[in-house]
Amino acid sequence: MIAALPAPLERLIAALPKVELHLHIEGTLEPEMVMAKAAHHGVDLRWGSVEALRGAYQFADLQSFLDIYYAGCDVLRDEQDFYDLAIAYFERAHADRVVHAEIFFDPQTHTARGVAMGTVIDGLVRAQRDAEARWGLTSKLIMCFLRHLSEDDAFATLDLARPYLHHLAGVGLDSGERGNPPAKFERVFTAARAMGLTPVAHAGEEGPAAYIREALDRLAVVRIDHGVRCDEDPALVDELAARRVPLTVCPLSNLKLCVVKDLADHNLGRLLAAGLCVTINSDDPAYFGGYIADNYRATAAALGLDAAALKQLAQNAVEAAWLPLTRRVQLLSEIDAL
Ligand code: ADE
Ligand code: ZN
Repeated sequence: MIAALPAPLERLIAALPKVELHLHIEGTLEPEMVMAKAAHHGVDLRWGSVEALRGAYQFADLQSFLDIYYAGCDVLRDEQDFYDLAIAYFERAHADRVVHAEIFFDPQTHTARGVAMGTVIDGLVRAQRDAEARWGLTSKLIMCFLRHLSEDDAFATLDLARPYLHHLAGVGLDSGERGNPPAKFERVFTAARAMGLTPVAHAGEEGPAAYIREALDRLAVVRIDHGVRCDEDPALVDELAARRVPLTVCPLSNLKLCVVKDLADHNLGRLLAAGLCVTINSDDPAYFGGYIADNYRATAAALGLDAAALKQLAQNAVEAAWLPLTRRVQLLSEIDAL
């Protein structure tokens, strides 16, 4: 339940042009679409109804979520499925005034089931083009490696992506963090950077602050996805602030996956006040109870953020995005004027 916000803050959040930088497209798969796609493809699911599926979204930790998230992906089989998934997200994001999104996809979840890399990327790219034509919503794709799988598997995935490089902006690292340190993928990230892909990585979600430092030093990432455990290392916090390394924080995800017990305990406000380039994002909104504006609202209510803080968060996302300078300047001044 999201607490009520003063009307001026509600209006400000609705009006802010938003940039979303931490969004797994497979995490936007709503139960209704899971059921419809399962029926269409004749996939037998463990859950008999939308309500039963939604009722299963009670997570004790990251792994308990990932088990359901990967199971849901089984209904995504052809190009139209990936198109439908992405266009539904873009439409929903547009309703929240998202003007630009840099979105993750997990190809190994699909290629392991015999779905071709081209099927995934073609569907996503067709939706990206339609979203820009319909709503002026621009986007970029970030291909993630699943860190619970091997380095060899990641290299094979990078190889499969070669014909589609012109559609990709970056590479990321996701899935179960504990026991899968960034260094496991140092050579893959070196190869990906040499191919012109910009690196980011999930770090410091469930894993220790040391993984954040490792992602910076060994993978040369330009943003940290989550990063909320940075405050276990004060020197690291100082460095993140001094270098303005963006953290793509996902408050409702952190709550649902028990990274924090209560949103009121979240360190987002403290990190923002300490000068870090903190941003607000939705991660896997179909599973965590809210899209990006819900994350802004819930966080503002729980932490008592004022208008200046909300504008700073939206401007941080513009600063952290891979946008041309002219668009960046235009969005920053649009936010300033609110
Ligand atoms: N894959 C999808 N959502 C994720 C998250 N929050 N952390 C790690 N891997 C993920
Ligand atoms: Zn994530």
